[in-house]
This record gives sequence, C-alpha cells and structure tokens, in this order.
Amino acid sequence: MSSNESAAGIAHVYRGTFVHATYHTAVEILEDGLLGVDTEGKIAFIGSGKEVDRLSQKWGFEAFAVTQLGQHEFFMPGMVDTHIHASQYSYAGTALDMPLLQWLNMYTFPVEACYKDLEFARNVYTHIVKRTLRNGTTTACYFATIHTDASLLLGQIANDFGQRALVGKVCMDTNNFFPHYKETLDESEGETNRFIGELLKKKYPLVRPVVTPRFAPSCSATLLGHLGEIAQNNDLHIQSHISETKEEVNLVKELFPDYDSYTDVYHRHNLLTDKTVMAHGCHLTDGELKLFRETGASIAHCPNSNISLCSGMLDVRRVLNHKVKLGLGTDVAGGYSPSMLDAVRRTLDTSKALTIQDTQYHTLTFEEVFRLATLGGSQALSLDENTGNFEVGKDFDALRVNTDAAGGPIDLINHGEGPKVYVAGKRVVPFVERP
Ligand code: GUN
Ligand code: FE
Repeated sequence: MSSNESAAGIAHVYRGTFVHATYHTAVEILEDGLLGVDTEGKIAFIGSGKEVDRLSQKWGFEAFAVTQLGQHEFFMPGMVDTHIHASQYSYAGTALDMPLLQWLNMYTFPVEACYKDLEFARNVYTHIVKRTLRNGTTTACYFATIHTDASLLLGQIANDFGQRALVGKVCMDTNNFFPHYKETLDESEGETNRFIGELLKKKYPLVRPVVTPRFAPSCSATLLGHLGEIAQNNDLHIQSHISETKEEVNLVKELFPDYDSYTDVYHRHNLLTDKTVMAHGCHLTDGELKLFRETGASIAHCPNSNISLCSGMLDVRRVLNHKVKLGLGTDVAGGYSPSMLDAVRRTLDTSKALTIQDTQYHTLTFEEVFRLATLGGSQALSLDENTGNFEVGKDFDALRVNTDAAGGPIDLINHGEGPKVYVAGKRVVPFVERP
C-alpha cells in the first residue's frame, strides 16, 4: 500500500461531476469522476467512473454501492467564510447607515454587550450556525464577543451541527465611546487563557480557538503584546481587523505614533504569523502587503461589508500580485448577508467597479473567485492541509449541488442552439436564477 492510500476501509463512493480548484487551476471539472471516502471521512481515491470495476477490486467496495449523481448535480468543496461575527447576526440587514467607527459605537457594541446573557447567545449562535451551513459554509472563522462562556457555547454549537470553526473570544481593553463593553487588561488576558484552555479540553474534532484582538484601536499595546505571546506559546490562529477605513487608519496613526504603519502595530506584537487572518485591508500600502507576504499572514476580503459601510474597495488583484493569501468573508453584520455565494457575487461586483474606474484593470474572473471562496479561504486559514479541494488524503468536505432541485432557486433552460457558455474550456449548461 503506497503512502497515499488510507489504511481505513471505504465508507462511501460517489460517481458524477466534481468541480474544485487546485493549486494550479482556478476551476477543474472532473466529469464522470469516482471518489471514495474512507471511514475517517478522508478522500481515499479519485479516479474515473470508467475505472469502477478496477477500483472496486482494489479498494474492496461493491460496484452497486456507488452513489450515482444526477445529470444536473455536482460536488464542490464546502465554502470557507474567513471572517464573520456570529454575535452580530441578530441585527444583520439593518443599521447600515453609518461609517465604521460610528456604526461600532451606535449599534455593534450595545448589541455585543447582550451576550453576557447565555440564552440570548444560544439563540443567535444556533441560528447563525444553521444559516451558514444551509448556505454552504462548511468552515467559518468566527468573532464572538468578550464573554468567555458565550464564546465557548458558540464552539459547542458549531461542533454539534458539524461545522468546522475557528472561534474567537473578542479581546478589548479600550472603549472610550461605550465603556460598558470592554474588559480590563487582566480580564482580557485571563479570560483568553480560560477560553483557550476550556475549548481545547473539549477536544471538538472540528473546532479550534483563535486569538482575537478586536482591532488596534480597541486594544492597549500591552494587551496586543500579551495576546501575541499567548498565540505563540500555544501555536494558535490569530484574527483581527486592519485598514478597513481611512478614518480608522488615521486613528491608529494617532494612537500608535511610534509605529511605521497599522501593519507594523500588529507585527511588532507578534500578531502577524502564517496562522493570522486580518479582515479587510482596503487601504494597505505596498510595504504593508510585503510584510503580509513575508510573515505568511492572510487577508479576509469582505466586499459586502466594504460597500455597505462605505469603507473602501479592496483591489484583490493587487493583493494576489503581492502573493498574499486571500479568502472571502461575509463580515456579518457589516455585511448584510451570511451567504458565501453573496460574497462571491460582491467580490466580482467590486472587481467590476474597479474596472469601470480603470478600463485597463485586470478584472477577476468568476473561476478565480470560486477558488477564493474554497481553496483560497482554506489557505488563508492555514487549513488547506485538510480542506479546500478534492485531493487524496484531505477530508471530504463537500457540497452536493443540484441545479435542478424541485422548488430550488434555479430555472434550468435548455438553450438548444442558444449561447454557448464555457467554464475552464468546457461547455456548461447556462442557468437563470429566479429573483
Ligand atoms: N473593526 C473592529 N470591530 C469591527 C466589527 O465588528 N466589524 C467590522 N466590520 N469592523 C470592525
Ligand atoms: Fe469584521
């Protein structure tokens, strides 16, 4: 048995169309593919449907036990939401009439303060986990609130529903505008340690803690330093916000005058690592992007939020040219939609808006954006050893999509000799979504 082959038996075999991104191709379509999943949920083999007899002998499964996908069905990797505030779901779709800093003070902090009530937390967290799963988010990187017990509850709920999750208890020891919603330095450090310890003790297979300084304006330099140390000592993920609006960038200059840049504030506190994901980055300089590249830190692009709060338009092409890892995020509730399909559409919209401003702009293709929503997100969260696409040895983390499901949102139209649509060089059936 080669090192690629799993020792575990085969639990499921699927035959049909598989669509995924690879490290070399934005979209690869395997027609009449055959994929085996072992009893540990890992992909044991991928081959052609025509090889079913040979593969069934080799792997010891019965050919009749193969699940055949329908003509209009395909598998794709689960989508990865690299930045979402589970706690803000309670007001998603409202309160988008102010810029970021006022929006935080007026709406966000008062709502997040409510999560000391565990029953309120349970209700919202159950809804957001179920809703994102229904929208195809199999992995989410969550901000909770400053409340440790409610944040632990979010981890438990994600685990119970089978969603892969990075969960962050929010840290903030500075809040001049809404002083009810903050911690002392000691509380923030102590509760972060308690959160990490208790979450790891649960041994949830799909849920991990993420060190979460809210953003530099909410944290003292001392707290940032302690959080950098905690992440380093425990080899943990880190998440925060960066350069979302120009007003915020100017505020950070005022609050941290001795640092070269906003990115430098995080970097000098050991908060930029290859397990760091920073939301937004709309206004980063080339020098800052270079620091992202050098440290391996990634960016969560949240276009719905960036437009909804009039924060800015991230030039994704520029970030990719800098070879900085980038995934997509919904940023509920700065973004009004919990759907990653919406994030895909908004990413294309923003790229096209940049093209309207500059016709020479190298617009993102939807194949590229498909990759960002799947493998790109998985890379951004440093989870791509196990997820992001269909490779032998990775978890079978997948969506089974039926474009012709009864009562579904799509009208499949047989175009006959009508317009031909190609994806990655292959003809596909066009579809029209109902409003
Ligand atoms: N920056 C700091 N906190 C937040 C938040 O909750 N949402 C967004 N969009 N940006 C932030
Ligand atoms: Fe955010």
